[in-house]
Amino acid sequence: MKKGIALIIAAVLLFLALGMYAQYSYYRGAPSYAGMPMMGTPQGAQPGAAPPQMRFSSNGEMIYYTGVNIDGERIVPKYGGPMWLYNHGGSCVSCHGEDGRGGRPVMMCPEIPPDIRYSALTEEMEHGGEEEHPPYNKTTIKRAITRGLDPAGEELNPCMPRWAMGERDLEDLILFLKRA
Ligand code: HEC
Repeated sequence: MKKGIALIIAAVLLFLALGMYAQYSYYRGAPSYAGMPMMGTPQGAQPGAAPPQMRFSSNGEMIYYTGVNIDGERIVPKYGGPMWLYNHGGSCVSCHGEDGRGGRPVMMCPEIPPDIRYSALTEEMEHGGEEEHPPYNKTTIKRAITRGLDPAGEELNPCMPRWAMGERDLEDLILFLKRA
């Protein structure tokens, strides 16, 4: 009987581990996160050697891809976001993708992460139907990132983490989204 339970627990753990691996290998091109140095390292690269895409040209770009700012401080969610984000770290790239366009389902998220390039956020919403709201501007984008509200003041899906982020980092991140 005890053996049976142990087997079930082992199976569940294996399932979770596979799920996490799938999540990370999906974004294999993206930089790795602290604590998981091997994940995200391109095949053939030396362990520990920074892959070429680990070099960033701006603070905003670095935050987007690594969740760490230029001073080495980690950007953390205050609340919201799925469990794996808290366990393994991650940043905007984990959900909104390498090009900022989102559009792909993410593990443990009921909502598909949207396009968050500045151009997409600030243009009139034309996709009709669901969740109409005015276009974003810089102020409302910051509010979406830190408080999870859309321009109409409606709560975003809890899968979008509410980030603790300083003013300079927010400015730099938005600058990056303008170029994405
Ligand atoms: C765990 C997945 C996840 C991570 C990580 C994440 N987001 Fe999101 N984000 C979402 C989802 C899902 C939505 C859509 C929520 C909704 O429509 O209710 C969203 C919505 C947004 C929106 C509002 C877009 C809109 O059309 O209303 C902005 C802006 C945004 N995210 C920026 C960011 C930034 C910047 C980061 C990194 C600091 C980030 N997100 C990290 C999942 C994520």
